[in-house]
Amino acid sequence: MTQTTPNHTQTVAGWAALEQNGKITPYVFKRREREKERKREGEKEMTQTTPNHTQTVAGWAALEQNGKITPYVFKRRENGADDVTIKILFCGMCHTDLHHVRNDWGITFFPLVPGHEITGLITKVGSNVTEFKVGDRVGVGLPGGVLSQLYVVHVPDSLPLDAAAPLLCAGITVYSPMKEHNMLQAGKKLGVVGLGGLGHVAIKFAKAFGLHVTVISTSPSKEKEARERLGADAFLLSTDAKQMAAESRTLDFVIDTVAAKHSLGPILNLLKVSGNLVLVGAPDKPVELPSFPLIFGKRTVTGSLIGGMKETQEMMNICGKHNITCDIELVKPNQINEALDRLARNDVRYPFRD
Ligand SMILES: NC(=O)c1ccc[n+]([C@@H]2O[C@H](COP(=O)([O-])OP(=O)(O)OC[C@H]3O[C@@H](n4cnc5c(N)ncnc54)[C@H](OP(=O)(O)O)[C@@H]3O)[C@@H](O)[C@H]2O)c1
Ligand SMILES: [Zn+2]
Repeated sequence: MTQTTPNHTQTVAGWAALEQNGKITPYVFKRREREKERKREGEKEMTQTTPNHTQTVAGWAALEQNGKITPYVFKRRENGADDVTIKILFCGMCHTDLHHVRNDWGITFFPLVPGHEITGLITKVGSNVTEFKVGDRVGVGLPGGVLSQLYVVHVPDSLPLDAAAPLLCAGITVYSPMKEHNMLQAGKKLGVVGLGGLGHVAIKFAKAFGLHVTVISTSPSKEKEARERLGADAFLLSTDAKQMAAESRTLDFVIDTVAAKHSLGPILNLLKVSGNLVLVGAPDKPVELPSFPLIFGKRTVTGSLIGGMKETQEMMNICGKHNITCDIELVKPNQINEALDRLARNDVRYPFRD
């Protein structure tokens, strides 16, 4: 603890488990000094707690739960030997940013600088950096303009940086489970639930690999787009029980990207026997999982979280090869709040970025 967090100077006694399932035993460790008063002004707060954060940068942040996103000056660390500094040109708006700003999951620390679908240009490299040089076009799936080279990927020259940005989260989040669960097989039938940021990229991967794609959506207005622009082969309105029942046991796999509470029952019924549903959407309330569609069809429900860095670069290269980018609506930083409100109302076609 003292090595990695130099400001942890208070010795305290507690009880801890030293390993998985270990007994809880007395344990002495370090805590940081208690801040005298919680500072509103981000700059002061950051310099107090992170002494090596010396570079002043400008961003946009929510200062409190449901707060508006406003200009925010804060500190970043110096570019270390293993770090790269990125001039951020575009940043996607993932529904996860909205969950965080609204503290839907109860885990947000404020002030919060949202955004984790970043593309830009390298402006500085540390002495140990071998994979990147100044001027490289890169992407990051984390917030941040100064970070270890380990978290950065190259963006192929053929992909525009604005429409590539959401690949850093939406793209890898659907690519990773599609690959892991052997979904990328030509001729197989995939269902994509929720036609938003994640959903529309899933369709693009599936079409690039020759799958038959059925979109399952709550929005009738999205059918034309799904079929004509994205090349979906079929479109089901999930609110129409008849339509859903008519397609029972027809799909090999389903990827569910829905950001709100819903029932997995009618979706599971679309799967063939032993079919697999991967849940990547993260509603704040538990989804309904009725047992009958699970047990009668011997179906599986599983989850997946983004993907590793090696896989993210692999996904980027595949996007470069198949010319996969995201359908985007460009907005300026001063339109972020309006854009987030529209995202909450499901009133966007595809992710925003700037
Ligand atoms: N597992 C991971 O690692 C990971 C990574 C990124 C994001 N996520 C999560 O994945 C979810 C989707 O993210 P996204 O950026 O693709 O979001 P998005 O663009 O808002 O798309 C979500 C889609 O869900 C559907 N939906 C149905 N009912 C809804 C409702 N009441 N409110 C909002 N949407 C509703 C909509 O599709 P239709 O109109 O077609 O029904 C909507 O387009 C979020 O929960 C996000 O936090 C997870
Ligand atoms: Zn995301």
